[in-house]
Amino acid sequence: MFYENVIESAEFIKEKISELPKTAIILGSGLGGIVDIMENKIVIPYGDIPHFPQSGVAGHAGNFVVGKIGSQVVAAMQGRFHFYEGFTMRELTYPVYVMKFLGIENLIVTNACGGVNKSFKPGDLMIIDNYISFLAMNPLIGNHDDRFGPRFPDMSEPYSLEIREKAVEAAEKVGIEYKSGVYALFTGPCYESAAEIRAFAALGADAVGMSTVPETIIGNYLGMKVFGVSCVTNMATGIATVKHSHEEVVRVANEASEKLCKWMQELLINW
Ligand code: HPA
Repeated sequence: MFYENVIESAEFIKEKISELPKTAIILGSGLGGIVDIMENKIVIPYGDIPHFPQSGVAGHAGNFVVGKIGSQVVAAMQGRFHFYEGFTMRELTYPVYVMKFLGIENLIVTNACGGVNKSFKPGDLMIIDNYISFLAMNPLIGNHDDRFGPRFPDMSEPYSLEIREKAVEAAEKVGIEYKSGVYALFTGPCYESAAEIRAFAALGADAVGMSTVPETIIGNYLGMKVFGVSCVTNMATGIATVKHSHEEVVRVANEASEKLCKWMQELLINW
């Protein structure tokens, strides 16, 4: 039934739009600004799409938006689904399967994260070079249907080198400073302990967050090129000198959203 449900969701969206997108963006906490620069938008609430999960976190709207950025037709997910909300891995990656059947070839994943690398500061944008999952869980666990992809997908380049290089060019062209690094996934919803952050740092993490990796794995599995950008909204526990707050995370992400939009606009226009 999973395969048939995905097709039904994709058909529903296709009927509402006139041109099919090739690129999709999943917007993290406070990073929804990209939708404002999209033209001729069609906004589809998640609740209207058959079989689609529903979102409930502050800072995350729940809309699937299709519109134009330059000459590119782009789909944006305003609001994503997290493991800590109680979704299964399959539920929270469901939209990526639907994107595949809309014809999406490039998937851009964004998120708010805590900075583990001490040279980072709040407001920095980081190109995700690679990931470490600190979850004893994988979104591909379960029955396999090889109409989607291989049983044992390769993850030697989870984030497309080609798009990372284009993103570097775009950042340099519009004068946006960026960092690069490894994103570590932690379940949340509590923030990490200081000891966990020391351990993650020793294992090679530059940033830590509660999302993105499941969508990255499924995007690769389905044969998409994946590109990820993290917004450092705070320094991680033990490096930060203050306690964390979700309001502060959303505030810093909102501030950085303008920079991210300018960058993504440049990247998409010259795709
Ligand atoms: N840890 C995990 N997830 C986050 C953080 C953090 O410090 N900041 C924003 N998302």
